[in-house]
Amino acid sequence: MRIVVIGSGNVATHLAQGLFHKGVTIDAIISRKMENAEALGSLVEADAFDNMKKYANWGKEDLVLIAVKDNAIDEVMSSGLLKHSDVVHTSGSYDSKGMRNYCHAYGAFYPFQTFRKTAAVDLSLVPFFLEMSSEKGLRKIEELACLLSNSVHNLNSSERKKLHLSGVFLNNFIYFILDKTKNLCVEHGISQDLLKPLLQQTIKFALDYPENLQTGPAKRGDVETMKGHIEVLSSNPNLAEIYKTLSYLIYNENHDDKIEL
Ligand SMILES: NC(=O)c1ccc[n+]([C@@H]2O[C@H](COP(=O)([O-])OP(=O)(O)OC[C@H]3O[C@@H](n4cnc5c(N)ncnc54)[C@H](OP(=O)(O)O)[C@@H]3O)[C@@H](O)[C@H]2O)c1
Repeated sequence: MRIVVIGSGNVATHLAQGLFHKGVTIDAIISRKMENAEALGSLVEADAFDNMKKYANWGKEDLVLIAVKDNAIDEVMSSGLLKHSDVVHTSGSYDSKGMRNYCHAYGAFYPFQTFRKTAAVDLSLVPFFLEMSSEKGLRKIEELACLLSNSVHNLNSSERKKLHLSGVFLNNFIYFILDKTKNLCVEHGISQDLLKPLLQQTIKFALDYPENLQTGPAKRGDVETMKGHIEVLSSNPNLAEIYKTLSYLIYNENHDDKIEL
């Protein structure tokens, strides 16, 4: 199979390399910055272009994989160059119907994982969620996804958006909290290494036990402890607000009365 990849960021890098190593021909990498297109192109033996107009074989490839930021997908589609192509995007929340007037068949090739260009990911463990406007196209992207992963599923745009939302809570928001926690440690002279055993046990509990394992002052209703923490956060009103919001939510799930923090 021969594919063209548009984008050379986190997702494009992992998917292009993963497919290349499974024997798929990557015909071209197209990205805005030539150095990025060339860097990925050289890893997957593909031609590199910094403009879609410079690729001469549109419509001859088996699939175009668009891995650009969500709000650039329409711009790529409306170039008018993909009329005869089968095209998939990799976004969790973009509604694939937005592509329908611009290509032969359209859909999604969504890997439910967090990617950074430079960090290794075992794609065989990544669940892939597929959508395609034609049966023939769906079979084609199923074949590609099964080369990469042992977990391949069909999901329409509206259900995929809900999955993506759960990923935002699970990954993006947790990361935000982790990052702020590290900053707090730095601010208060606590070594970040001391966080690791608690972090490891938290993740282990979350993976091993389906039931709610919440502990802490909000669960117990230790109001003075919570007030003390909010006082420590007095120079950081945004974090204090997050602390209060989450504490109210946890408290209300576990107690019948109301508290004022
Ligand atoms: N990162 C994740 O963990 C993850 C996971 C699953 C799905 N996704 C989805 O995958 C897509 C890509 O995410 P990403 O994290 O890989 O993004 P990214 O690392 O920011 O890369 C975006 C890429 O898009 C290129 N680009 C932007 N606008 C373009 C345009 N108009 N024409 C051509 N190329 C353009 C950029 O090119 P230049 O660098 O050359 O400017 C860059 O290579 C998004 O839809 C995202 O929602 C991301």
